[in-house]
Amino acid sequence: MVLKSKDLLGLKDIDADEILHIIETARTMRYILDSRNKKAPHLQGKSVITLFYENSTRTRLSFELAAKYLGASSANISSSGSSVSKGETLIDTAKTIDMMGTDIIIMRHPMSGAPHLMARNVKASVINAGDGMNEHPTQALLDIFTVIDKRGSMKGMKVAILGDVSHSRVARSNIWGMTKLGAEMSVAGPATMVPPELQKTGVRVFHTVQEALIGADVVICLRLQLERQQKGLFPSIREYSGYFGLNGKRLELANKDALVLHPGPVNRGVEISSDVMGKSVSCVNEQVNNGVAIRMALLYLLTRRGIGENIN
Ligand code: NCD
Repeated sequence: MVLKSKDLLGLKDIDADEILHIIETARTMRYILDSRNKKAPHLQGKSVITLFYENSTRTRLSFELAAKYLGASSANISSSGSSVSKGETLIDTAKTIDMMGTDIIIMRHPMSGAPHLMARNVKASVINAGDGMNEHPTQALLDIFTVIDKRGSMKGMKVAILGDVSHSRVARSNIWGMTKLGAEMSVAGPATMVPPELQKTGVRVFHTVQEALIGADVVICLRLQLERQQKGLFPSIREYSGYFGLNGKRLELANKDALVLHPGPVNRGVEISSDVMGKSVSCVNEQVNNGVAIRMALLYLLTRRGIGENIN
């Protein structure tokens, strides 16, 4: 099976069978990742650039390692160390990267839609590594992979997403992807941080975490996106975590052995307590491992399409 688009910009735009194909490919990539010799030839002769206009630890590093494990040439650009800080436009930066024979550009940007603009202006494949409050498709793919790995399927899974939903691209991508695979989605957060229009999409909206947790099979905690919100959306961090943080007692409302996910970085004691992080149902470490496998799978599948190839 070949992915339909040259780019991966969001899970809104791809089909359920494409999502499952990426996950099946990631499963085979995990053999390479977990082996003693992490040097496979899948991306030999290909080049991958990471272009990050926002901070990142795990997303950027996992893309860089994924490219290296599959034998690609890779390089990274950050906004502060490049001509972006000299005022170059996004399209000019895009064209420059494209003309250097790049096959895949991985991009994170604070503005929603920036990777879409980039994708329209380059021959290379563009992967969205998080655009503002819009989407973070590879995070949702690794979350879906983690759940399918442990429970066999997303179908009929009751998923509760807790916290700052409005500002979360992770929530948005998970809602698109998990719904396409047959999960039942609920969200819970302060009224100031949950978009009311979500209800129209079939997502159940609650304003107490307890209601969303009852009977949940999967719980996804979100980080408060302080960098994306105006002041005054909640009285204090202490009050926010008191009402919306996940702790051991609250987790008892969910189904027995409900999985707990968090995209990281985690603010322990704010959106999730340390005791929950330490429980065996916490998938945070597996998510990181699966994240590399998902990114290996995507790099491989996008270059295999051939469309990302730069033949100049
Ligand atoms: C997420 C992001 O950047 O949106 N982090 C990540 O990619 N692992 C979530 C977050 O920063 O809260």
